[in-house]
Amino acid sequence: MPGSSTTRCDRDALLLLMMFHCLLEIASGSTQEWTYHMKGAIQVMKYYRNLYPGPRDVAFSPEVVKFVHIFFIEKDTFLRTTTMPFNDTEKDDFDSLRWSTEISSLFPFLNSGNPTRADPCMGLSPELLDIISSINERARDQLTSGRPEINYTLLDTLKSRLHKLELIRETSDQAQLVYLNSIAFQEATWIYLHHIVGNQPRESEVIQRFHLPKLLEIIESIHQAQGIHLCYMPYPMWALFIASCVVPEERRVRILELFALLKQKKPMSNVPSTLCAVEAIWKRRDLEAEGTHRYSTAHQNLWVDVISQLGWKMSLT
Ligand SMILES: *[C@@H]1O[C@H](CO)[C@@H](O)[C@H](O)[C@H]1NC(C)=O
Ligand SMILES: *[C@@H]1O[C@H](CO)[C@@H](O)[C@H](O)[C@H]1NC(C)=O
Repeated sequence: MPGSSTTRCDRDALLLLMMFHCLLEIASGSTQEWTYHMKGAIQVMKYYRNLYPGPRDVAFSPEVVKFVHIFFIEKDTFLRTTTMPFNDTEKDDFDSLRWSTEISSLFPFLNSGNPTRADPCMGLSPELLDIISSINERARDQLTSGRPEINYTLLDTLKSRLHKLELIRETSDQAQLVYLNSIAFQEATWIYLHHIVGNQPRESEVIQRFHLPKLLEIIESIHQAQGIHLCYMPYPMWALFIASCVVPEERRVRILELFALLKQKKPMSNVPSTLCAVEAIWKRRDLEAEGTHRYSTAHQNLWVDVISQLGWKMSLT
């Protein structure tokens, strides 16, 4: 652990450095190492917060804490949509990465903003991240307890929270690119919610006829709106991933076209590894459809199984 004879400026720099290391790992296609920096950043924040428990701006500048927190909490939340601990060793490792609760209790000012306001870069609001997080928790419960009944209280609560977010978005500036990102994330969250909490199969009407077509359309309009800027604009990779996980075979080509363009525009990124994971998931589906793969569903999201077999930690932003 770093020494205590540092200035706040040094500590801010250390935290930002960990964030940049994480970004560099993701840009070079890492499917594991980027999480080490995420874990390191949590440890540094905890360490110095314990050393300087006083006023909120002593350990780090609040702006830096906010910035780093948004960066990591998005990655952590999406990581948990594709990764679950399958044994106790993995569970400890997994829990030591947790950004959602621990860090915001150490730095309570992180909870003070408007939770429905989307961050102006990626288009994600704390409220939406929290909804996704609740679905992640539910998926994890399903894994540990076999295949339980649908919890309708939870399903209805999450649905009404998502509806509220949709009402808010109608009043926001629709000309902004970040608006498109934010609806892509919301549509993907609807699919994730129906699939995991509502136990709807991938083929279900609500997913295939309602949310998936909307989601694909939005992603295509993001490609059009960003055009040549696609290479450096924030991109809702998680939304594309969710679409890929539920897309029917005859529409896979649409997804492949989106990936082909991304790969060309963003060669230094997590695009190639995400596509690789998507292809592995499709392959598993094909094998199951042919009946050549015996698969027992302990939980709804087959993609968690496939990615765990790859041994990957997906960054998806
Ligand atoms: C848990 O799973 C990991 C990765 O799959 C494996 O390396 C480890 O040996 C397992 N631990 C136990 C206690 O089964
Ligand atoms: C269902 O979800 C609600 C809200 O999250 C929770 O309070 C309740 O304990 C859950 N019920 C069961 C049976 O798990």
